[in-house]
Amino acid sequence: MIRSVVRGFGAALPKRVMTNRELENIVETSDEWIVQRTGIRQRYVAGEGETTASLGADAARAALENAGMSADSIDLIICATSTPDNTFPATAVDIQNRLGIHHGFAFDMQAVCSGFVYAMATADLYIRGGLAKRVLVIGAETFSRILDWKDRTTCVLFGDGAGALVLEADEGNGTNADRGVLAAQLRSDGVHKEKLYVDGGPSSTGTVGHLRMEGREVFKHAVGMITDVIEAVFEASGTTSDDIDWMVPHQANRRIIDASAKKLGIPVEKVVVTVDLHGNTSAASIPLALATAAGDGRIKKGDLVLLEAMGGGFTWGAVLVRW
Ligand code: ACO
Repeated sequence: MIRSVVRGFGAALPKRVMTNRELENIVETSDEWIVQRTGIRQRYVAGEGETTASLGADAARAALENAGMSADSIDLIICATSTPDNTFPATAVDIQNRLGIHHGFAFDMQAVCSGFVYAMATADLYIRGGLAKRVLVIGAETFSRILDWKDRTTCVLFGDGAGALVLEADEGNGTNADRGVLAAQLRSDGVHKEKLYVDGGPSSTGTVGHLRMEGREVFKHAVGMITDVIEAVFEASGTTSDDIDWMVPHQANRRIIDASAKKLGIPVEKVVVTVDLHGNTSAASIPLALATAAGDGRIKKGDLVLLEAMGGGFTWGAVLVRW
């Protein structure tokens, strides 16, 4: 049976770090409030010349180097993003060009913070369906460019960055027999649109718009939605929370992460947390966290890794991968 196996990982962050203390000079807030309510201590903010496509391409190069593969062996690029460089063409096609790839195909995936989980599930289907053999799955965002920097309820929460994985079709022989993407479950429900959205777009206002969020409302739904979809992934794969080596959640808020892990019975030592360093980087948060934990040797070949996310739409989902 063909499986989509992880061959490499990479990350890219803007040069500029913005601490909570710096935010105290921009809006009425405090380091203490931000840390206590979210766990965020700093975030990275894109500067001149740094865009979703440039960060995504840098993360992709790092993933290719980690995999020991050349760019021209890639036949599909999926970029999960809600902050594309242009309305069109897709950021993934821009990244394809930046990598010097002129064959195969590339497209964007828009599911806000669940984008990377959606992209992983989609890449897996393309691989198992025989349409692609080597896929770059990228999450790249520059949310700083859609924030209302006068709104303290949102501007303290988000950051910029990109992460990438190389997935490859594997026949599943020998030592690879049980590796790869094992199960995925995706959900969406547009009834929640007003709780988290951008108040602009080409067809509604002709502007880019700013992120608007009813934080308390999002929080109220998050843990239930996340744990339900994870239970569905466990059921689909015949696994339980006891089998999980690492939970790599979307990094929105430390309290949501802790409450979800607790409800599932996954010990805190098995949860990868990078929200303190990166803030909420939307579709980039999971691949950034994966690159962090695989890079420092926590996630190892053969580990069972649970990815989960919830975001604007609402969208939510979970993917189970044997690393
Ligand atoms: N600094 C200081 N005070 C603040 C700030 C701030 N940055 N922001 C809000 N406050 C104040 C509020 O005005 C409010 O004051 P009041 O009591 O006088 O009215 C008080 O702090 C409490 O505000 P709440 O919104 O009730 O605070 P809460 O504990 O809910 O924390 C937070 C807010 C962090 C946004 C939380 O609700 C949350 O994390 N929600 C989930 C958000 C999330 O995960 N979003 C991402 C989803 S993924 C995606 O798709 C993008």
